[in-house]
Amino acid sequence: MVQKPKAEPFRIKMVEPIKMISREEREAALKEAGYNLFNLRSDDVYIDLLTDSGTGAMSDNQWAGLMLGDEAYAGSKNYFHLADNVKELFGYNYTIPTHQGRGAEQVLFPVLLTKDKPYSISNYHFDTTKAHVEIAGGRAANILTGEAFETHIESPFKGNFDLEAVEKFIQEKGPDKIGMVVVTVTCNSAGGQPISMENIRQTSELARKHNIPLVMDAARYAENAYFIKYREKGYENKSIREIVKEMFSYTDCLTMSAKKDPLVNIGGVLAFKDDEELFRKCQSRTVPLEGFPTYGGLAGRDIEAMARGLMESIDEDYLEYRIGQVKYLGDRLDEGGVPYQKPTGGHAVFVDAKKMLPHIPFDQFPAQVLANALYLESGVRSVEIGSFLLGRDPDTGENLESPFELLRLTIPRRTYTVSHMDVIADGLIAVSKYAEQLKGLEFTYEPEILRHFTARLKPL
Ligand code: F0G
Repeated sequence: MVQKPKAEPFRIKMVEPIKMISREEREAALKEAGYNLFNLRSDDVYIDLLTDSGTGAMSDNQWAGLMLGDEAYAGSKNYFHLADNVKELFGYNYTIPTHQGRGAEQVLFPVLLTKDKPYSISNYHFDTTKAHVEIAGGRAANILTGEAFETHIESPFKGNFDLEAVEKFIQEKGPDKIGMVVVTVTCNSAGGQPISMENIRQTSELARKHNIPLVMDAARYAENAYFIKYREKGYENKSIREIVKEMFSYTDCLTMSAKKDPLVNIGGVLAFKDDEELFRKCQSRTVPLEGFPTYGGLAGRDIEAMARGLMESIDEDYLEYRIGQVKYLGDRLDEGGVPYQKPTGGHAVFVDAKKMLPHIPFDQFPAQVLANALYLESGVRSVEIGSFLLGRDPDTGENLESPFELLRLTIPRRTYTVSHMDVIADGLIAVSKYAEQLKGLEFTYEPEILRHFTARLKPL
């Protein structure tokens, strides 16, 4: 049953025109882009679902905050506003702003991951997170609950760790070889799927037993908290604010891309609950990498917008509208028989390209083929989350086969309307009618790391 989402809890006072170019122009643009949608000009895109990162609409309150930027090199008042809000929301005492999430990762990871402690365990490392683990000389292990890989199973917490497998991994490698455990909320790569409070708590107990530091990869904490409220027993009467506070009480530090839930176009945070020594080490690393530790690669005005966005992110009316809009898109796809990761996640619908294009093998990138077809059909830009993104084994150079071949329809925050969701669903349903005729892709250029961003391809 298709359920209309809760109406937007805002009205619109500025608009940005978008336009659909012709089919012939889209064909030419795709060829020019080497069949990789990252290489398109955004002017050639009608509805842009490449990412929910930095693509949201700021509120009037955030725009007003930009005018109050204090551009002091050190100790700007916006920094203290940010640190106060981090303390209030997450209960963390030490805050360092960074230019975005990966800025926080590049400062923190080399401190926790060393030659003697090379392993990082996560429910699922995001791609830049995995890259920073590897740049630090470490190795990333994703240990996610098995049901996440069965896209048709409707399960409430498909972002959970498989804790038995985590324990086994720790025993096999030796607890003193594990540099960190990263809790990714929500689990982006598995479909924006939430992790339950119980699973966060048990992961924390396990890590503490072995004396392993716990990092929250906090890009989508508010969406995760919303799912806990509506899906986990005992949380139905708690506020999102209380749930967020409890989630972060189980981890020691956070890396955050503020371009997601905190509703800014640029920004990140690295924060520590009470480990002053770790904070000090990271503070001095920040200077050469990101900048002086009270501005961390951002203008004072950007820090102000981020401080305000943090507080807006936990508004329950907003979250109900937001999660409802994503679910509406999923319901429309259900009607049209398009398979996707069930239930819909917080920030995106992840279409199961393996099921839609079973005739295309993993190393011809079925979800990338589907992304290109959707762009040609309706000018919608989506993104592949599968073997194209996963890349090659750093030790053997072999193409890795991803357990998922997903097409992510990522919904920017407060940006598109229900009518846009209908255009997206109609386009994908139209593609599903001729999916068996689509052909695989091969490389004409393949960069060594993070290949999916700049690679060039051609249809076979
Ligand atoms: N962690 C997660 C879970 C992410 O989803 C991202 C970014 C990052 C870390 C890195 O943050 O981009 O601010 O440096 N995800 C974006 C995406 C890019 O499209 O999913 P960043």
